[in-house]
Amino acid sequence: MRAFILLFASTIALFATPSAYEQGKKLYFGKGCNGCHGISAGGSSQYPALANRRKPFLIDKLKGYRAKKGATQLSQIMIPFAIGLSDTQIDALTTFFSEFKESSSHDKTERSSRGDGGS
Ligand code: HEC
Repeated sequence: MRAFILLFASTIALFATPSAYEQGKKLYFGKGCNGCHGISAGGSSQYPALANRRKPFLIDKLKGYRAKKGATQLSQIMIPFAIGLSDTQIDALTTFFSEFKESSSHDKTERSSRGDGGS
């Protein structure tokens, strides 16, 4: 299943510029998610790690927060950040998390090394 999702995401990435991964990365830093979840999406004692987690789980969580569902007080912190996200943005972000790479130097696909991609 995971392999299928990765393959599927890679296939999309070949045709879409910038790739979902790159879009997710931009959103992650652009929306300040890194402020809590860290520059490597590794989390901290208070905030959960997001890097290399399962994409379907993360999608589920983000859509839940967006719908203002949250069982814990901690969820209340997260809800405002999820409310403005579109399905496409959630998809891009969770692609970025589930395929997270610390650096692109060992990127076997090379697909994210197209440069900043102009506009
Ligand atoms: C102010 C700090 C803060 C910011 C900024 C923030 N988060 Fe969170 N995030 C949290 C906290 C706290 C939780 C844990 C909530 C809970 O326990 O339900 C969380 C949980 C999550 C989860 C679920 C992870 C899990 O293991 O349950 C995802 C996915 C997530 N955040 C993504 C994002 C994204 C994407 C952004 C940017 C749009 C973002 N967060 C910005 C604090 C933050």
